Amino acid sequence: MPPINLCLLGFGNVGRALVRLLAEKRDELRQIYGIEFRITGVASRRLGWLASPDGLDLDSPGDIETLSRLTLSQSGIREWLEAAEAAVMFETTSLNPHSGQPAIDYIRTALESGVHAITANKGPVAYAYRELAGLARQKCRRFLFESAAMDCMPIFSLFRETLPGARLLGFSGIFNATTSVIIEAMESGDSFEEGVRKAQALGIAETDPAHDVDGWDAVLKVCEIACVLMDADCKPGDIERRGIAHLDPAEVRAARAAGRPFKLVARARLSAGGRLLASVRPEQVSSTDPLSQASGGSLMINFELDVLPGLTLIAHNPGLKSTAYGMLADFLNAVRDHMR
Ligand SMILES: NC(=O)c1ccc[n+]([C@@H]2O[C@H](COP(=O)([O-])OP(=O)(O)OC[C@H]3O[C@@H](n4cnc5c(N)ncnc54)[C@H](OP(=O)(O)O)[C@@H]3O)[C@@H](O)[C@H]2O)c1
Repeated sequence: MPPINLCLLGFGNVGRALVRLLAEKRDELRQIYGIEFRITGVASRRLGWLASPDGLDLDSPGDIETLSRLTLSQSGIREWLEAAEAAVMFETTSLNPHSGQPAIDYIRTALESGVHAITANKGPVAYAYRELAGLARQKCRRFLFESAAMDCMPIFSLFRETLPGARLLGFSGIFNATTSVIIEAMESGDSFEEGVRKAQALGIAETDPAHDVDGWDAVLKVCEIACVLMDADCKPGDIERRGIAHLDPAEVRAARAAGRPFKLVARARLSAGGRLLASVRPEQVSSTDPLSQASGGSLMINFELDVLPGLTLIAHNPGLKSTAYGMLADFLNAVRDHMR
């Protein structure tokens, strides 16, 4: 099989972790799946659009600065994908929580150009899932996003591959690790600001953790899961949202002492009339609730199905390598379909 040409749009933490994982897995992919690949395009705001159809040597991502001087810049995404002769594009640009752009336009262009689109970005799924999934079907390409909701926790592939015919009635979960770490720090006597610094020191929170703290990150995830798995026609703005910034440290400590600690809980359910009722807000959780099982940097989701009252998944301390793995798994699923 000829090598599959891969392009990376966005080359920050996740893009670089993906390059490292691809290098680590290169021999395994060749031996187990017969898959050869090469990276033929890299793009970011700072780098511009870099392409070389013979492959860029990115096994050591530090070389990118040299590459940017050696490789011709293209004028935009369509030209870049053509110059790179791309088969698969990995989209890892920064999240725009209010519109999902410009990542939606980037993914639309990739699919229109006959390129599989794999993203870790919540925006395109939360704001444009139906359109992009429809376009992918029309073009016989894949639009996949396993890392865009719960790092690499296999929730979309779980329903796609292993639960055919099961109907999702609702779900609840702990979707944001930064807020868990902040609340737990407050329980042990830290201020809110000290909790934020703890989450940053663990590498969980962004330099600006506003989207985590105010609940936007979790709202986008609720919207993604509801749109994809429940066929809900919802937008992030439709979901009730309360962050954790208003929580009183004394109240947080008292809740923990009473055995019903606060967590930022995400919920969604279809009403009898088929309307989506969804929220993200701090709630007190008892020790018998499955939600109590997620602490620190862990993420969890509990599904309620028409055929099974409770199915719970927990990802224990997922990191950048986990996010990169979700994209690698999407890549294998996309190209294996074409090898069948
Ligand atoms: N970090 C995580 O643990 C994690 C986990 C799951 C999902 N995600 C999602 O994955 C994506 C990437 O996260 P990250 O941590 O890798 O972010 P990051 O380190 O800030 O990297 C973002 C990259 O995207 C590029 N970029 C931003 N806007 C762009 C635009 N309009 N056009 C072209 N390139 C653009 C940046 O280029 P410049 O540097 O040149 O500006 C940078 O290379 C985000 O959507 C994030 O929400 C992250």
